[in-house]
Amino acid sequence: MKKIKIQGGKTLTGTINIGGAKNSAVALIPAAILCSGTATIFNVPQISDTLSLIEILEYLGAKVNLSNDIMTIDSSNIENKDIPEEVSKKLRASYYFMGALLGKYKKVTMYFPGGCKIGERPINLHLKGFEMLGAKVTSEGNKYTVEADKLKGTSIYLDIASVGATINIMLAATLAEGVTTIENAAKEPEIVNVATFMNTMGAKITGAGTSEIKIEGVKKLNSSFHEVIPDRIEAGTYIIAGALIGDNLKINNIIPDHIESLTSKLTEIGIPLEIGSDYVIVSKANKPKCTNVKTLVYPGFATDLQQPLTTLLTQCNGTSSIEETIWENRFLNTEYLNKMGANITVNGKTALIKGPTKLIGKKVIATDLRAGACLILAGLIAKGETTIENVEHILRGYEKIIEKLTNVGAKISLEEI
Ligand code: EPU
Repeated sequence: MKKIKIQGGKTLTGTINIGGAKNSAVALIPAAILCSGTATIFNVPQISDTLSLIEILEYLGAKVNLSNDIMTIDSSNIENKDIPEEVSKKLRASYYFMGALLGKYKKVTMYFPGGCKIGERPINLHLKGFEMLGAKVTSEGNKYTVEADKLKGTSIYLDIASVGATINIMLAATLAEGVTTIENAAKEPEIVNVATFMNTMGAKITGAGTSEIKIEGVKKLNSSFHEVIPDRIEAGTYIIAGALIGDNLKINNIIPDHIESLTSKLTEIGIPLEIGSDYVIVSKANKPKCTNVKTLVYPGFATDLQQPLTTLLTQCNGTSSIEETIWENRFLNTEYLNKMGANITVNGKTALIKGPTKLIGKKVIATDLRAGACLILAGLIAKGETTIENVEHILRGYEKIIEKLTNVGAKISLEEI
């Protein structure tokens, strides 16, 4: 067990380089097994979710090499074995092995995935997609078996534009017979990244990034290489850190278009930003204004940045509101922000944040990944020392977070409990 300690009040200045996107890498890695040879993935984030996926790959018999941020996956000798519960539940993205193994072997058995407890997180749309492709789904408690004699392309409408279901159906449909279309597909940049990778392996996917994706089934995928896009949520988190306590803090190696919903909000509340071709330079504002935010699917305001943004809203003048429309349980961070001195009330899907309030260092708990990021940001501006427990959540998704923040002037450390 580890904890993070932060001495607040240190100005952040210098450059933070953003790593590969967690939510892209965690899909690209399982996607790699669809090819019969070796896939090489560049810019892989060094987070514990990556290590959990390697554990699954090696369990299946793949040869994996991870050297810094370059991963090679040789799937030529993998065996389609049931994936045990201990590994299935280590992370949410283990569910991408459902689509990948089903696509490749027409059968998969694994358990309900893990991940942050930010809502019920059903997988009914993934399973509906597999069934529409011709598979039979059986479940026994948490254990799911999905199998088919053959998968056949069809038109699948998603009731909700789910990121996970869109990617999983793409994975399963790539080696299916005929054409699959996904209607009301999710449009997140991570989906485009995965579709591009699959196309470099020989898949025929068009329309990724729009609400209608077309997948023409192919017989085989081949060895290839691909790069993970920069992590827009990691970038957004550090941009918010700069807005809280930065002095010309440069967030480098980003795709500014991917975080426009955040940067436009920050500009609206008065945060000084310089947006370059692949960077943002951000400084603390004098008297930031309050605002209203509603989380939406891409290109709307990302739910994953809602919790980090809340820390900034505690420093804005007036009452801000956040309406969370994606997850039912994504305000657990507010209890700890209030413990540190914030004035936040939550009513159903909406949080009202009265500011500005001075924050004081306390002992707090990271209930989930982005709640943890929110508390790190709070610790950076709080008076005195903040101790965050349950930081395993944070390490699942933020690469070298201690090193990156220390390099720009934060006083932050990771310690054993
Ligand atoms: N949903 C269903 N049924 C399904 C699938 C989803 O009802 O079969 C609902 C969910 O309950 C939720 C909504 O649809 O209310 C959207 O869920 P989605 O499937 O889009 O989310 P996800 O694929 O499970 C990914 C990211 C999340 C991010 C969401 C939304 C990964 C591994 N996770 O989750 O990231 O919040 O998309 O953008 O890609 C994070 O990084 O902290 C994180 C939670």
